[in-house]
Amino acid sequence: MSPRVWITGASSGIGAALAEELHARGARVAVSARRTDQLARVSGGRMLVQPVDVMDRIAVLTAAEKVIDAFGGIDIAVLNAGAWNRFDVTDWDPNSFRNQFEVNVFGMSYGIEAVLPSMLERGRGTIVGVASVAGYRGMPGGEAYSATKAAQINLLESLRGGLLHKGIRVQTVCPGFVRTPMTARNTFPMPFMVEPEFAASKIADGIASGKPEIIFPRRMAVLMKAARLVPVGLWSRANARLAARRQR
Ligand SMILES: NC(=O)c1ccc[n+]([C@@H]2O[C@H](COP(=O)([O-])OP(=O)(O)OC[C@H]3O[C@@H](n4cnc5c(N)ncnc54)[C@H](OP(=O)(O)O)[C@@H]3O)[C@@H](O)[C@H]2O)c1
Repeated sequence: MSPRVWITGASSGIGAALAEELHARGARVAVSARRTDQLARVSGGRMLVQPVDVMDRIAVLTAAEKVIDAFGGIDIAVLNAGAWNRFDVTDWDPNSFRNQFEVNVFGMSYGIEAVLPSMLERGRGTIVGVASVAGYRGMPGGEAYSATKAAQINLLESLRGGLLHKGIRVQTVCPGFVRTPMTARNTFPMPFMVEPEFAASKIADGIASGKPEIIFPRRMAVLMKAARLVPVGLWSRANARLAARRQR
């Protein structure tokens, strides 16, 4: 039977490319985000369009319920909706900080809450959370976004341990830089940038293989895994030099 997939943040970028990729691989796909016109464009009449704002808990629960009603269940939930905004520590913006946590962390939590009961009932299902290598280490400018990604990585890892024996798989996606509307707003250097179609293919392969962590491209994976091993003092001094250079 074709897997039934629900993807949030599917109106552009990685989510839209993944919807296309999984549909091409034979899945039944439901796409969610706020921009209905963009969702309709991605769907091209081939997918279920279910608009939602992931900051609204009740709306997320309702959207998942509608997808479950239409498909008879959700086998794979890809919680990918995300927000990034430039963050400047010299001009702390509590609204921007809150917004990024509400979309990235609370939005993901509502998505989990929405699909978990039916997966627990059936004793199977897959939850895929799209985090980022940005969550691996703190860097200047990452006070809000990278903190949300670190929270997602820990949330998903905790969840994985708690659900595996119940037949539910939890997978964490950690992309490096992907060319999307989100990165189009960046001005800092973005090494090893990949296209959304490459990202989608890697994520689809990773979902099929069932591995706990899907991280790409390889060069970014090696770099960021190595960064995790750098002692805190050394990492902080290197970042302080970077921040000073940026503020000059
Ligand atoms: N691009 C990268 O280099 C990169 C790297 C690592 C991780 N990521 C992660 O990948 C995911 C997708 O990002 P992207 O790069 O593909 O950027 P994108 O093209 O800007 O996509 C973000 C998606 O999230 C949706 N979204 C944002 N706020 C939402 C809300 N309140 N409710 C529902 N949907 C919302 C957007 O749709 P609407 O605006 O229509 O709601 C859009 O579909 C994010 O979680 C991001 O953090 C991206």
